[in-house]
Amino acid sequence: MKEYLIEPSILAADFSKLGEDVSNVISAGADVLHFDVMDNHYVPNLSIGPMVLKSLRNYGIDIPINVHLMIKPINDRLILDFLEAGATGISFHPESTDHVDRFLQLIKEHGCKTGLVLNPSTDLSCLEYVMHKIDVIILMSVNPGFGGQIFLPEILRKITQTRKLIDNNPYDINLAVDGGINMSNFCKICESGANVFIIGSAIFNASNYHDVIYNFRSMLLY
Ligand code: DX5
Ligand code: ZN
Repeated sequence: MKEYLIEPSILAADFSKLGEDVSNVISAGADVLHFDVMDNHYVPNLSIGPMVLKSLRNYGIDIPINVHLMIKPINDRLILDFLEAGATGISFHPESTDHVDRFLQLIKEHGCKTGLVLNPSTDLSCLEYVMHKIDVIILMSVNPGFGGQIFLPEILRKITQTRKLIDNNPYDINLAVDGGINMSNFCKICESGANVFIIGSAIFNASNYHDVIYNFRSMLLY
């Protein structure tokens, strides 16, 4: 049986009361948290860094936190800072470094989960020689940089192709989709083969986090 995970993206949370908002989404049934890091260079937006992650840990947030690095170039220092702050997974874009393999190894060596994030137009071929070092493949279904964008329907085909690729390999790899997920496209994303759903505005803009997560979960195919 597939393990399905609902991963709320805190980019859409209320930053004036982040600890409380994140606690509420966890009580409502979030499995993992998604932590978007933007540098105003790789993507045209600026967000949060290791200090905020550490504050969430100090506040008592104890579920896994997956960091999505949208920074260029990525570097050792920042990765180590996120590890120290309490990241349990770190994902980055292959375009953000010349040394994809080295950074996957660095993250793994620290007992942290690794992920590669593919932009909508990034080819699956970048996965070929590093599949055995990846815990999650994240397919962007919007161009990275902002929450609240519209899901790109052409990514459904990419999800299907990536699912085949994963199933034809012996490694245990999750397939996540990030961007524009809502009640109307969730079923198609699931049917196409995703098992991790990174969802920002559709969860945090809802008036009742429990109901919205429950509704998403009830559409999963077991
Ligand atoms: C976009 C981010 C996403 C975003 C998802 O660059 O990587 O994680 O927060 O938010 P929604 O679900 O609102 O598209
Ligand atoms: Zn993200």
